[in-house]
Amino acid sequence: MKRCLLMVAVCVFGWLAHAEKRSSFVPGAVWPDTEGVHINAHGGGFLFHDGMYYWFGEHKIAGPKGNSAQVGVRCYSSADLYNWKNEGVALAVSDDPDSDMAKGCILERPKVVYNRATRQFVMWFHLELKGEGYSSARSGVAVSDRVTGPYRFVESFRPNGAMARDQTLFVDDDGAAYHLYASENNATLHISRLTDDYLKPSGDYRRLFEKRSMEAPAICKRDGKYYFLGSGCTGWRPNAARSAVASHIFGPWEELGNPCAGTNPGLGVGPEKTFGGQSTYLLPVQGKPGAVVAVFDVWTPKNPIDGTYLFLPVAFENGGFEIQWRDEWSLDDL
Ligand code: GAL
Repeated sequence: MKRCLLMVAVCVFGWLAHAEKRSSFVPGAVWPDTEGVHINAHGGGFLFHDGMYYWFGEHKIAGPKGNSAQVGVRCYSSADLYNWKNEGVALAVSDDPDSDMAKGCILERPKVVYNRATRQFVMWFHLELKGEGYSSARSGVAVSDRVTGPYRFVESFRPNGAMARDQTLFVDDDGAAYHLYASENNATLHISRLTDDYLKPSGDYRRLFEKRSMEAPAICKRDGKYYFLGSGCTGWRPNAARSAVASHIFGPWEELGNPCAGTNPGLGVGPEKTFGGQSTYLLPVQGKPGAVVAVFDVWTPKNPIDGTYLFLPVAFENGGFEIQWRDEWSLDDL
């Protein structure tokens, strides 16, 4: 009888924990999904489609092996940015050892955009062939008719014949899509316009922030200006964030310096190390024109599955922007 009551108590407690609805961000904390499991979508990208946000990211496993792709890209959905439902594996690694996406490859920073003309969801990601460390420096492309997938791997290549590692995608108001990637052995970023179907580089590209060794790129647009957030180049170890502004996406880009302010008390680090994180996305908030959330990863390479996320508000001011640490906040504060 006692045992039975205990079981009931455990079930009720579990249900309550799962049912708990979140209404704020707690940057850096464990972040349970709607089933109570810490969100597993690192180096993430976001898409707002048909009234829902989708979060795509690297599915990491425990232990050092988790720094390579053992599963693929996971997708979550949310109506409010606080409560995320696990939608499963959107793009799976392959069991075929000859595939570019063979299990054990490195698959990082997936980003998804929607092409209105082809009605396809197009995913780009950083791909390193299995067993070759970070020397391949390729971009991978996958497509799906459904936002949550499954995505079908199309191909991988070096865009415009150049090395490509950390990367993001950005779709402008006119529907033109751009691929921004750390090139030239991470020394110089490239911004490349994609073909109209978003599947390939169009051949039209520019070199940005020459020899400034920037990575973890993110872009957003506000009142006709383009804003850039990125990092320096120190692997999994955090460094100071970078920011820039431009009136045209191909530049000239004006570098503005470190946008971060305040201290993350959990890790005891401030702007000099981006609160212990590294940028991955600038996320426009629906229904709040001009409001943007900056998204960072806190990497834990010894046990990658433990990595956490920092969602922080972006304050646009004096021609640039500031990202101030918050222990807890909500979109109502914007
Ligand atoms: C970081 C990069 C990550 C990952 C890592 C590997 O600089 O932003 O996405 O590639 O290096 O060391």
